[in-house]
Amino acid sequence: MWKLAIEDAVRKTRQNIKKHREFFPHITEGKGYQWSENTDWIEGFYTGIIWLCYEYTQDEFFSQSAKQQVENFRHRLINRIALDHHDIGFLYTPSAMAQWMIEQEQSAKQLALQAADHLLTRWRPQGQYIQAWGAGGDPKNGGRIIIDCLMNLPLLYWASETTGESKYRDAAMIHADKSRRYLVRGDDSSYHTFYFHPDNGEPIGGGTHQGYHDGSTWTRGQAWGIYGFALSYRYTHNPLYLETAKRMARYFIEHLPEDHIAYWDFNVPIESDTYRDSSASAIAACGLLELATHLDAADPDRSYVEDAVFRMMKSLVNNYSTVNQPDAEGLIDHGSYYVRGGMGPDGYLIWGDYFYLEALLRLEKGVAGYWYERKC
Ligand code: GLY
Repeated sequence: MWKLAIEDAVRKTRQNIKKHREFFPHITEGKGYQWSENTDWIEGFYTGIIWLCYEYTQDEFFSQSAKQQVENFRHRLINRIALDHHDIGFLYTPSAMAQWMIEQEQSAKQLALQAADHLLTRWRPQGQYIQAWGAGGDPKNGGRIIIDCLMNLPLLYWASETTGESKYRDAAMIHADKSRRYLVRGDDSSYHTFYFHPDNGEPIGGGTHQGYHDGSTWTRGQAWGIYGFALSYRYTHNPLYLETAKRMARYFIEHLPEDHIAYWDFNVPIESDTYRDSSASAIAACGLLELATHLDAADPDRSYVEDAVFRMMKSLVNNYSTVNQPDAEGLIDHGSYYVRGGMGPDGYLIWGDYFYLEALLRLEKGVAGYWYERKC
């Protein structure tokens, strides 16, 4: 089943590259993706999909195309195009860091390191956190962290391992500790966002941007947390991160509906037309597979996690994927970007497609995406 889904993804990706050339997909518009230039937080996922296709097929059509995109990311960094946010890891990990991992290409490694330096400009020494959005001192966002940032930390951990300089890892660990303390709640659910006083880091309170309400659990945020803490554990071996990933994983799994694919928020009232977020389930599947690699074969938590992945991925392939729609541009349907904001509430999301394919390749070939070098 995984193989057929991967081959369908490879075929659609080839089709998309030929049709849309230098443009990047974002969210759904009409029947297909909305295609645009490299100016948002999401473009790295398309390049990551292309690298995954290359690793599966070894077809240079894909590596040439991914390399062209990495040059586009280089241009973006040199010219600081729309980079005033923390999602530098989402942009440069599945693009430049991936190229370094696959080809050992020095210029890609340098680009990923420059991206890590840029991400570090989001570190706020007074407050001791990585500011998500806006300029330093911004009245609304100056003290804001968001749970998604946990997936930007691998770029920093990797930069410390690669350069031997501790500053990247130190910032990442302080930020992860703070995320653990303030974003994850006592019942293992999570806030999307938390505010601190920017002058001294005093905690103010939790809230949401994309969730149902301030105290709810936005499912994609919970998924970013599972994968992000599992990756922080991989790099640091701090057992608190592993424990947090496990707790968040259990919450996610126990709150899934009957078809094993999350609605867009765990607290939203369920009606017949409530949107799912297939991307949250794809991210969580990768996070759970990562978590499983840190658990002993005899640990019952491991089979619990692996069984959940199997159910989720089976449902994604059978009920949400486009394997039976040869002309579709997206790989999985029914992702929701920002329901209350009216943006992409129900359709393809390029990060959903990326994590779906990453999970499939983890299951079929043991290829684990681009968040860490495979030696570590
Ligand atoms: N990182 C933004 C999102 O997950 O929508």
